[in-house]
Amino acid sequence: MSTERTFIAIKPDGVQRGLVGKILKRFEQRGFKLVAMKLCMPGKEHLEKHYADLFSKPFFAGLVEYMNSGPICAMVWEGLNVVKMGRMMLGETNPQASLPGSIRGDYSIQVGRNICHGSDAVESANHEIALWFKPEELMSYDSCTAKWIYE
Ligand code: RTP
Ligand code: MG
Repeated sequence: MSTERTFIAIKPDGVQRGLVGKILKRFEQRGFKLVAMKLCMPGKEHLEKHYADLFSKPFFAGLVEYMNSGPICAMVWEGLNVVKMGRMMLGETNPQASLPGSIRGDYSIQVGRNICHGSDAVESANHEIALWFKPEELMSYDSCTAKWIYE
């Protein structure tokens, strides 16, 4: 078992297209544990903080506008190597390079509407989780399936 956590978000296009259940299902069926989840529109300033490392990119303003265009489903998932596995489940940043079977590879076409976000490292995951959730919003509980998922 592992207490590694990652921040996964279903972006406004994913929520609008009714993909919340389908994306959740993939993380649940893989065996990861849901630790927190909320639907929110945190505002421009918060989204600029979330993508602060991309500030100098030409697409930054459009990215923030896209992320601020509707509700986001923000989640924290826990499990062994979940940061890396989560990124694999999402697919490549550009859906054109995402293999079928990945979320982006199954549901999206363009980089500017790529449906979901996933933390890219354990350190950024911890930073993002603290940005999006209060400590009391993170649930600590034993999953009854853990002993059948981990040896
Ligand atoms: P994310 O943070 O959303 O999980 O995406 P990522 O790590 O795969 O890619 P990142 O480089 O962090 O980019 C963040 C988001 O910015 C948009 N983007 N647009 N127009 C472009 O060339 C471009 N490049 C990136 C995408 O929505 C990407 O997910
Ligand atoms: Mg990223």
